[in-house]
Amino acid sequence: MFLRNLCEGSGLILPEGWPDVPPSEFASLRKALRDRIDGLYQYIDSQASINRTQKRFARFFPETAMQLLRLDWSQPEERHQVSEDVLEQLDDRPPAVVAYDQLYCTPDSTERRIHRIMENIPAEPSSRVLFLGDDDLGCVVLAPRFTGETHVIDLDDRLLDFIKERAPSVSQHKVDLFLGGIPRSMKETFDAVVLDPPWDEHGSWSFLAKAMVCLKQTTHARIFLSFCPLEMELAGAPTARMWKRLALHGFTAEAIETSFNLYDLVATETDKYQELMTLYIPVIDSPFLEMLKQAPYAFAHLYQLRRIEHFRPSWRTMLRNWWHSQ
Ligand SMILES: C[S@@+](CC[C@H](N)C(=O)[O-])C[C@H]1O[C@@H](n2cnc3c(N)ncnc32)[C@H](O)[C@@H]1O
Repeated sequence: MFLRNLCEGSGLILPEGWPDVPPSEFASLRKALRDRIDGLYQYIDSQASINRTQKRFARFFPETAMQLLRLDWSQPEERHQVSEDVLEQLDDRPPAVVAYDQLYCTPDSTERRIHRIMENIPAEPSSRVLFLGDDDLGCVVLAPRFTGETHVIDLDDRLLDFIKERAPSVSQHKVDLFLGGIPRSMKETFDAVVLDPPWDEHGSWSFLAKAMVCLKQTTHARIFLSFCPLEMELAGAPTARMWKRLALHGFTAEAIETSFNLYDLVATETDKYQELMTLYIPVIDSPFLEMLKQAPYAFAHLYQLRRIEHFRPSWRTMLRNWWHSQ
């Protein structure tokens, strides 16, 4: 509905039979939307009254619309179905709070992540999975389906209480991932570390550094990072720094699945997120931007990271790893 309204309101023609149209029709619609969006950026960038941060944030919804267009065309509806079991497990969850940077993903995104973990990590009692911050409640969905151990680190007591009630077998650890280190006993003990960190450079690195420290030194061990790259990519250098830092720690991306996760922006609990975005997005007289702001979902890619074989860390890397554990 969002795409239909966007096209109708901005003079673009959604091809008949959408989304079942050939690649050429998708490509022309995509180009037409891209051109409209680039025109909007040119206008925004030429305004002296709009500061750099606002110019960056103005790109959030247009780039999200581009992702949603591709998703709508390329992925069948079934991908976004969620099983009844999972819905029941997540029913009545605590509302998201902005103080903890929470914006939880859709239940089907959580379910997809869990399938991905189970495809990759051996189903053995000795296997261990760690969720580093888990408002998405992946640990609740995984624990009853998994033979190994499931652990979660978070700061939010409401979430930890909910997890305790719905999935009592999950081992909980209350750690501040910004200020504290992870307990030394957790170092290099997990086959999978799952995280959906804040989207800024400092926040994402605070979480990611701990994920790397916790991962076992085995060939099958993986980090499942759900991350929206927009904020860092639009700022330029932070993205390059992230990949460089990962390489310096001996990690590489084995797979990147675009828009693997969606976040429902229409749900009432995300009101505060909308308010926050409104604060940064410039107020301009553009019905097109207003329509783009109606995007019903935010997105994040899934980055599957693994250790580079035979990697030898430098003494600096070892020192940093020591710092991130207590
Ligand atoms: C950082 S939030 C972000 C997730 C959200 N899905 C998103 O894309 O914006 C993910 C989880 O980390 C937890 N969290 C936030 N700050 C934390 C901190 N300092 N230490 C530990 N957990 C934290 C939150 O409670 C939440 O469950």
